[in-house]
Amino acid sequence: ASQATIIQRRPDFSTISSEDLSYFKNILGEIGVVQDEETLDAVNTDWMRKYKGTSKLMLQPRTVEEVSQILKYCNSRCLAVVPQGGNTGLVGGSVPAFDEVIVSISHMNKIISFDKVSGILVCEAGCILENLIAFLDNEGFVMPLDLGAKGSCQIGGNVSTNAGGLRLLRYGSLHGSVLGLEVVLANGTVLDMLGTLRKDNTGYDLKHLFIGSEGSLGIVTKVSILTPPKLSSVNVCFLACKDYASCLKLLLEAKRKLGEILSAFEFLDHDAMDLVLKHLEGVRNPFPFSMHNFYVLIETTGSSESYDREKLDAFLLNSMENDLISDGVVAQDITQASSCWHIREGIPEALMKAGGVYKYDLSIPVEKMYDLVEEMRVRLDASAKVVAYGHLGDGNLHLNISTPQYDDNILSQIEPFVYEWTSKHKGSISAEHGLGLMKANKIHYTKSPETVQLMASIKKLLDPSGILNPYKVLPPSLFTKS
Ligand code: FAD
Ligand code: MLT
Ligand code: ZN
Repeated sequence: ASQATIIQRRPDFSTISSEDLSYFKNILGEIGVVQDEETLDAVNTDWMRKYKGTSKLMLQPRTVEEVSQILKYCNSRCLAVVPQGGNTGLVGGSVPAFDEVIVSISHMNKIISFDKVSGILVCEAGCILENLIAFLDNEGFVMPLDLGAKGSCQIGGNVSTNAGGLRLLRYGSLHGSVLGLEVVLANGTVLDMLGTLRKDNTGYDLKHLFIGSEGSLGIVTKVSILTPPKLSSVNVCFLACKDYASCLKLLLEAKRKLGEILSAFEFLDHDAMDLVLKHLEGVRNPFPFSMHNFYVLIETTGSSESYDREKLDAFLLNSMENDLISDGVVAQDITQASSCWHIREGIPEALMKAGGVYKYDLSIPVEKMYDLVEEMRVRLDASAKVVAYGHLGDGNLHLNISTPQYDDNILSQIEPFVYEWTSKHKGSISAEHGLGLMKANKIHYTKSPETVQLMASIKKLLDPSGILNPYKVLPPSLFTKS
């Protein structure tokens, strides 16, 4: 793929032998050792079809003991491993760079316990997010995270990428809601950190090392997570704004006037809306008779229908009077609310249908955020569509450049400009998707040399042979043997 960084396979990694296969079949049975071409093709290819590995082997353990035996063996044989969840990651982290063994967690998908008083859910890492959402809904609770990939992504993948998503504004990051983890280290050691306590200050809180480490420090096998109760009153409105400054004022007003009931504040620009209308079936334009420059989706979640609606109506009236919104619809039922969400959540899929896409997932101080989008439009010619959307309430911009096909010429106009700009404005080059293969060599745009060095030391301590997700997250040059 044109965007992949050029890297060399590490010569110290072994290749799979027939003895290795016999060993794996012995511990997992034939069923847990996958070698058929069609399946391997799918698991070697990422969601964007941009990164592709050449692994000849996927292992599907069912228990933590099996994960431990696999890693212990791979470590002793110096066989490199890629942990894989739902394979929805957007930075090339979930597929092999070369011929690494894919360790899929999909078959570890049991809910272990749910405490209805505390709202603490304990489950295996391979549980699909949407299944957890449905399970909790039945119990009168919600997951503290939600994202467009919920139908495929797994809680272990969410934890390993520290996924943000559509509810972070309300419930905070997984560093807050994950209470405990069970993790298998590269040498097979099982770390039981599966606490279910809100408070536990006994020494270093090591679970945080694994939240967001993208499978480079260990394989997450179980997760304990604090879930909030489901509240009865949810409102969704889809609003149009004439300019970016109005979106920002609206955000401030929403925080002030909606306060504790605000549960999402998402934005998309005209080009993102255009793309969704063009490429996704069944999407209705909420404003069919007028074009707008920006759109904002606001969701409120609270416990009183009349009180919440009163607050929302007052906020909308005030925003209209102050000319912050030029048009708007409030969803009247669940169907209308999900059509509003479908527009926002459907953007990644619409981008895929449109051709090639260069994705940038940036944290930038909100006042400056859209300047980058405008500067990018000036840099690129009209065949490249610059599309912006994201979690405005969290200061997270998704800047996407959509092109008919991948083109290195266009890439060289985007990078390193986009990273330099973000660094200059003290932003982050990965707000929520992680670094993966795509940005392993770009970490220095956001992190200091001393910080990167310490990260490399931690990686070497936990995984001395570097078998876990090599070439990803940190610059591969830090791990080549001289
Ligand atoms: P994978 O893609 O399989 O893996 C991701 C990374 O985690 C890889 O490095 C992999 O090695 C590692 N990993 C996976 N499972 C484990 C495990 N059990 N133990 C150790 N390492 C593991 N992200 C957001 O933050 N916010 C969003 O709003 C959002 N929306 C998305 C919408 C769409 C349509 C898509 C396709 C992706 C979106 N993402 C979003 C990207 C996001 O990273 C993932 O969807 C999700 O968190 C990854 O989960 P997964 O199970 O698919 O992991
Ligand atoms: C989103 O917010 O839609 C996701 O992070 C996916 C993307 O950035 O395309
Ligand atoms: Zn996102």
